[in-house]
Amino acid sequence: MTQISIVVAFSRNHVIGRDGDMPWKLSTDLKRFKALTMGKPLVLGRKTFESFGGRPLPGRPHIVVSRGAPIAVAGVETAASLEAALARAERLAQDLGVDDICVIGGGEIYRQALPLADVLHVTHVEADIADGDTFFPPISDDLFEKQEEHFVPAGERDSYDTRYAIYRRKKPR
Ligand SMILES: NC(=O)c1ccc[n+]([C@@H]2O[C@H](COP(=O)([O-])OP(=O)(O)OC[C@H]3O[C@@H](n4cnc5c(N)ncnc54)[C@H](OP(=O)(O)O)[C@@H]3O)[C@@H](O)[C@H]2O)c1
Repeated sequence: MTQISIVVAFSRNHVIGRDGDMPWKLSTDLKRFKALTMGKPLVLGRKTFESFGGRPLPGRPHIVVSRGAPIAVAGVETAASLEAALARAERLAQDLGVDDICVIGGGEIYRQALPLADVLHVTHVEADIADGDTFFPPISDDLFEKQEEHFVPAGERDSYDTRYAIYRRKKPR
């Protein structure tokens, strides 16, 4: 079965976004994000897609969830619900021969996808962000267990230290 993986970075107080963007620069984490998601279908909300400047990330088919008009951009499909997006992404993953679908935000999509996710790739950003406006929901210990975690000190082009952790669903869906 195709795995549903959530990929997210959030602060100590669970902030993921501010004013339509991310409130940090994490170059080291972006490299890890790229390696993790390359070649896999991405499911994302319309506002997160807009935060990319209307251009998809290269090498990954995008399924954008929106109740609005289809987005006419090469490499991008639009789905009218999260369920439709996940179903389409699963077919694409099978066609591409990859094992997972990556759900990459933002807040509205994470909230709906968390109960369905098998794996969470979380970059814990070691900061409290006071003026965030978009959040990641709490991760329930009953549903998910942390499988590994490692500390990543801030490099020259990173705003903060981070801890990269992988959580896995305790019981299969
Ligand atoms: N830190 C991180 O890892 C991370 C990752 C991604 C994004 N972000 C940040 O998160 C923020 C954006 O998150 P957000 O919560 O504002 O928006 P979002 O989740 O990216 O997109 C919301 C939009 O998705 C569509 N949508 C949501 N649920 C739907 C459903 N069930 N059926 C159909 N369409 C649905 C709607 O689009 P329409 O209005 O077109 O109908 C809605 O307006 C930005 O600040 C971004 O930078 C952070």
